[in-house]
Amino acid sequence: MTDPKPVIAVLGGTGHEGGGLARRWARAGYPVFLGSRDGAKAAAKAAELPGGKARGGDNLAAAQAGEIVVLTVPWSAQLATLKSVAPALEGKILVDVTVPLVPPKVSRVQLPAEDSAVVAAQNLLGPGVKVVSAFQNVSAHVLLDDDATVDCDVLVCGDDEAAREAVVQLARAGGMRAYQAGPLANSVAAEALTSILIFLNRRYKVPGSGIRLTGLPDNS
Ligand SMILES: NC(=O)c1ccc[n+]([C@@H]2O[C@H](COP(=O)([O-])OP(=O)(O)OC[C@H]3O[C@@H](n4cnc5c(N)ncnc54)[C@H](OP(=O)(O)O)[C@@H]3O)[C@@H](O)[C@H]2O)c1
Repeated sequence: MTDPKPVIAVLGGTGHEGGGLARRWARAGYPVFLGSRDGAKAAAKAAELPGGKARGGDNLAAAQAGEIVVLTVPWSAQLATLKSVAPALEGKILVDVTVPLVPPKVSRVQLPAEDSAVVAAQNLLGPGVKVVSAFQNVSAHVLLDDDATVDCDVLVCGDDEAAREAVVQLARAGGMRAYQAGPLANSVAAEALTSILIFLNRRYKVPGSGIRLTGLPDNS
């Protein structure tokens, strides 16, 4: 019998944020495919995920296998990684988690020339890929802790309403409250917020501060 849940591919899924998201979706019963520059490394990481359904391979194999593809690599590697898998993304949703951090001053908002890293991804990939921005404010530290409740709402931005809603549902499946937050251009607000959260983590000596929206129905 085929799995009714879509295959979620996570490019850079060997890392902190992608590994944490993959772990949450694997626990929720999703078939997860981790991607890496090194397929063997991703396969080994996939074997550590709960549920026994996770697979791993190189980023291209992951992009080909995924029905929804999630990108979790450093900003410096974002566009090169997307270029290397672009044909495999056609017709799919790409969930881009990239935050345009510029080390070493990662607690300072430093927006790219195009204002938003995720808008740059959409410009690169063209209209055949539905790029959705999400999870920029969710700490990997929290995602990787099986005992932690994610105390952070997820802002989901994208130009395709159905794709935005699909990612809201995916976030909810991973145990998060998530809300549609408008067109992809609005992603810049979520991307910028992350540097503020990093500042708060350092100033108040906590591992994973987050954001909460108020005045909205609880959709967790
Ligand atoms: N960490 C957080 O709490 C957090 C929270 C929100 C958003 N984010 C965002 O999520 C993204 C990933 O963050 P992270 O903390 O998970 O990063 P990370 O662990 O440092 O890196 C994630 C993965 O990216 C791949 N990678 C690293 N350098 C690369 C390169 N030069 N070219 C291609 N792939 C490369 C690596 O996979 P392989 O070596 O296996 O290829 C690595 O495991 C970033 O854009 C970050 O801003 C992170």
